[in-house]
Amino acid sequence: MLIAPSLLSCDFSKMGDEIARMDKAGADWMHLDVMDGHFVPNLTFGAPVIKWVRPFTDKPFDVHLMISEPLKYIDDFADAGADIITFHIESDSDIDKTIEKIKNRGLKAGLVLKPKTPAEAVFPYLDKLDLVLVMTVEPGFGGQSFMADMMPKVEAIKAEITRRGIDVLIEADGGIGDATIAEAAKAGVDVSVAGTAVFKAENPSEAIKRLAAF
Ligand code: DX5
Ligand code: ZN
Repeated sequence: MLIAPSLLSCDFSKMGDEIARMDKAGADWMHLDVMDGHFVPNLTFGAPVIKWVRPFTDKPFDVHLMISEPLKYIDDFADAGADIITFHIESDSDIDKTIEKIKNRGLKAGLVLKPKTPAEAVFPYLDKLDLVLVMTVEPGFGGQSFMADMMPKVEAIKAEITRRGIDVLIEADGGIGDATIAEAAKAGVDVSVAGTAVFKAENPSEAIKRLAAF
């Protein structure tokens, strides 16, 4: 299992150092949660902050856009140093155009599904994607409980990927830690986002190692 620590749980006054600390602790990707206070009821940071912290690691930046109009900002996040951009299927932007824009910038593209959105919603876009991010909490905040009832959705997407013989990763986000990662792995999750479980751990390096073993 690949592990992407969510910087939402870090000390924002030293975000660069926190990224360097996660790099040393063995993180595979850095997960950066962008919220606009409109698509979700919370605000975080945008492209300028990502640009400032970009030099603190060589690991891929996995930018999760929880914003209403992702298409408008793809160039900004690409310029800031994103490697992977995921955006919500429930957002207001044209989905095909947004995927195209991300790919044209040479980045990996992913669609994100909120808990109430069914697996089938992503099927029309599957062939164009590099990954699908399945939310295992309602987006907006860290530290919520893992929704185990999202695992049939992961299984359904995995089955469709296998049926088509395509190369698309499944990422899960929200409430993943020692108590829940086995379930995610069993359902077919390839990449786990972990905020609280890594940042609140006494030893983040051990925490990442334990999670990555699944
Ligand atoms: C929630 C964010 C998640 C969050 C995960 O909207 O997308 O990335 O930070 O945090 P934990 O692992 O604490 O649930
Ligand atoms: Zn996220």
